[in-house]
Amino acid sequence: MLGLFDSGLGGLTVLQRLRERLPQQDIIFFADQLHVPYGDRTPGELVELLRANVEFLDARAVDAIVMACNTSCATAAREGWPVTKAPILDLIESAAIAVESAGYQRIGVVATAATTATRAYTQKITSRISRAHVFEVAAPALVPLVEAGKLVGEEPRAAVAAVCAQLPPDLDAVLLACTHYPLLDAHFAAALGEGVARIDPAIVHAERAAAIAAHEGFAPGTGSITCITSGDPERFRLAVTNVLGKLPEITFER
Ligand code: DGL
Repeated sequence: MLGLFDSGLGGLTVLQRLRERLPQQDIIFFADQLHVPYGDRTPGELVELLRANVEFLDARAVDAIVMACNTSCATAAREGWPVTKAPILDLIESAAIAVESAGYQRIGVVATAATTATRAYTQKITSRISRAHVFEVAAPALVPLVEAGKLVGEEPRAAVAAVCAQLPPDLDAVLLACTHYPLLDAHFAAALGEGVARIDPAIVHAERAAAIAAHEGFAPGTGSITCITSGDPERFRLAVTNVLGKLPEITFER
């Protein structure tokens, strides 16, 4: 069984990639919607939330914790990872691998304010590609829009356009460095135009998870998905169904 957590609905974009790549693995996903958005929180709060969330999953005896929150990975890059029984798969590492294997040199990083404050993305990418130029932009308006279900229409379009306008020209690629942002991908595509690639780190992340599952021999399950929120369970159920569709294998726990 794989364990995932995020501050909210962003974790579903990682869950989707994992489900495509590892259809037989059982997945437990915890959305900490009581504390969303993480991106506006203090480093001290984020350390505490990271510790509590990995402890929650570790106590469920998951085979691996597949990180679904960039802000928590950026926190760990600065403060260190909590000690866990399960191995932890770092999403920022997956993003850096994606950039390196595509050979991009000029990279925009759109992320939460807490993530950009750590410069973890710049450090991880430049440690792999010394000639890379990395431009980080914080986008605090986007997570609240996604959590409110505002994925289409003028409001999210304008918010994404305003973020992309802060990026320099001639980029090779832009990393969607918060797991909520792939849900706004159509707006990123429109704002960035065809010449700029968009990278969802969850694609390489799921590949890495599959490689670890094969290497470590994780027992296959039944492909069940267990979703838990610390927020409003009814709103969460609706939002999950909206993003994933009504799937028989999803159960909701309180
Ligand atoms: N989706 C998370 C991330 O990848 C956190 C967003 C937030 O709560 O601000 O960073």
